[in-house]
Amino acid sequence: MRRTLLLALAVGLTACADQQPKRETGPVDNMPLSLIPQPAQLQRTPGRFRLDATATITVTPGDTAAKHVAAQLQSWVRQARGITLAIVEGKPKSGGISLATSAAIKGREAYTLDVDGKGVRIAANDETGLFYGAVTYWQLLTDPAAQGGVPGVHIVDAPRFEWRGLMLDSSRHFQSVSEIEHLLDQMAMHKLNTFHWHLTDDQGWRLQIDKYPKLTETGACRKAIGPDVALTGGEDKPYCGFYTQDEAKQIVAYAAERHITVVPEIEMPGHAQAAVASYPKLGNGKKLAVSGDWGVNTALFNTDDATFVVMQDVLDEVMAIFPSTYIHVGGDEAAKDEWEHSKAVQAKMKSLGITDEEKMQGWFVARIGDYLDKHGRRLIGWDEILDGKVPATATVMSWRGTRGAIKAANAGHDVVMAPSPTLYLDQLQSTLPDEPPGRPSGQTLKTLYDFEPVPSDIAPDKADHVLGEQVTLFTEYQPNWYRIQHAIFPRIAAVAERTWSPKADWNSFIARLPAQMSRYRAAGIVPADSVYAVAIATEAAADDKARVTLSTQSGYGTIRYTTDGSAPTAQSTAYSAPFDVALPTTVRANAFAGGFGLAGPRDRAIDAKSLLHRSSDELDTCGDKLVLRLEAANAVDGVRPVYKVDIMNTCWVWKGVRLDGRYGVDVTVDRLPYNYALWKDTAGIVSRKARSAAGEIEVHQDTCDGPKLSTIPLAPAKDGRATLQGILPKREGTHDLCFVVTGKPGPKLWVIGDIQLR
Ligand code: ACM
Repeated sequence: MRRTLLLALAVGLTACADQQPKRETGPVDNMPLSLIPQPAQLQRTPGRFRLDATATITVTPGDTAAKHVAAQLQSWVRQARGITLAIVEGKPKSGGISLATSAAIKGREAYTLDVDGKGVRIAANDETGLFYGAVTYWQLLTDPAAQGGVPGVHIVDAPRFEWRGLMLDSSRHFQSVSEIEHLLDQMAMHKLNTFHWHLTDDQGWRLQIDKYPKLTETGACRKAIGPDVALTGGEDKPYCGFYTQDEAKQIVAYAAERHITVVPEIEMPGHAQAAVASYPKLGNGKKLAVSGDWGVNTALFNTDDATFVVMQDVLDEVMAIFPSTYIHVGGDEAAKDEWEHSKAVQAKMKSLGITDEEKMQGWFVARIGDYLDKHGRRLIGWDEILDGKVPATATVMSWRGTRGAIKAANAGHDVVMAPSPTLYLDQLQSTLPDEPPGRPSGQTLKTLYDFEPVPSDIAPDKADHVLGEQVTLFTEYQPNWYRIQHAIFPRIAAVAERTWSPKADWNSFIARLPAQMSRYRAAGIVPADSVYAVAIATEAAADDKARVTLSTQSGYGTIRYTTDGSAPTAQSTAYSAPFDVALPTTVRANAFAGGFGLAGPRDRAIDAKSLLHRSSDELDTCGDKLVLRLEAANAVDGVRPVYKVDIMNTCWVWKGVRLDGRYGVDVTVDRLPYNYALWKDTAGIVSRKARSAAGEIEVHQDTCDGPKLSTIPLAPAKDGRATLQGILPKREGTHDLCFVVTGKPGPKLWVIGDIQLR
């Protein structure tokens, strides 16, 4: 399929070359353009076109596709420039914008765009191509290089992949219709075309199903836990939300206007607890609550014929709302304990001659796949669906790295690349202390950008099975729109470029991104600036000074800083190497390019005390079983502290502490809800013998089994954030200090927030 698109592009190129307009002569402007995704072919040409209110958007009489896109472009120009261009039918006129469908251009999404002194001409075979041409023109219009008019270009463009996607989980946390529409607006402006909507999971069923009202009466509410309490207004107030069918249809229509297909996901047979809580007969018959635990809950749909009737009824309503070819049926992380213990499931397996539960899942998925096939739809599922025998028409979404995709494509299935952790947006994108909560594996913008959607392990003759890639946002740690924006923007730009453009070029991308960040801000989006932001590291230096090291993730731009508390500007001192400051000093820094600050300035107050302080972010965890950055249930000075913790091993190491004598140690701790379903991983939780009911913090020297320097009882902290005091015996030299919380995590979790030596 990929090849078809490239072929279409090649044909488009030829067709276009045949009818290239006569070029103006004159100098070509060389100021770089900031288009994202980078078009397949872009030539700079002489001339500039300066748009004013007298310009018109001209469409060929009767060209309804062009007329429709003209109205969309008209509204974007109004927002960007404050002028409303007239839309007229007729022959293209000099001094304006023309939009026209043209059979000479091949490929539904392909387009050509020409700008010169006389105006702008966009042509495409189909409305979708015209829409993308208009998006590119809007980007040119909002480009810093277009201050004196949009410079001349000849663009011939078409996407590399047909699946350019983003997944949003509305189960773990729920978003309003207008937030989703805002996201769809932005997807369209990145030429992304697939919105994968994760609508059901253990923690909430979010789509109204008329035939089974309890799915939302019961299944759309769960107990508010941790940060949810602030959203609901109290622990006794449940966390609820679902989309009515009308709202879902509104979202489908809104997306379609923007050439985006909504692919709904209805999870089965696992991640089914909200559904089973609504109708226990669908599971093992036991009454359950909608889950408030993140992770792998074990409630499964059973395999009774009656359950398939319900699933098919649900899919009938889903298909009536969502016209997409693909229907996503989940299939991931289905723990088989219930099936192993169910007489009915075991009897059914026996009657079918199926020998294990994984193959039984294959049978389950195949039965649903047949149903979808009969209705002219295609099944897509997470890569676990490959563990059983699934029909060749099933499409596989590879999330457990790329191995699922490799296996599937080589076996002849179409695949969508969505590997965790690289393309998972709940992974944090920097180690900056102001990163919001999430999974701290450190998937930077560059890691995401560098991911090549067609792994070399897929046989060349099978590479066409890769439909494309998508970024995936599971929302356990994104309870609100602000957090969602931080996770998605600007990473959406990287996935857009890797799925659209034929070539990747990181250095060019990072230089084009600042203009895109400005476009986000103009659209009311608050992006993460982690890729440009300055990290300020400090260490003790000679003569009671501190050594300061400044860096940015991308290295793009020039770092500039101040030490007098003032905001850094494009004229501030440029950073070239670590420098020493007298104590106390506040360092403020930002990266600059083209005279503009690339990020929000970051600052750090440095004094003798701060050099003997570490936050949990600056400590190492003692392993990496399940490391998370979690937020406090309660705010401190209006901000909720964030703690880095391995929830399976509550133990932190402060590496290389220079000690010379006896120290007091203040340890700030907090107690968080422990709402995790770890299934078989529970056996791996590290538990240390506690000396008291509340447990204690033990401080060990050099290794976590090394000499015990101090025992600090947790009892005085009771149930919340508190600073506890201990004493370290006299020690000299450089040592690692290991801080372990004794006892076992659950039902609450002790975390260390800060350590201060005195
Ligand atoms: C997944 O992350 N369980 C698809």
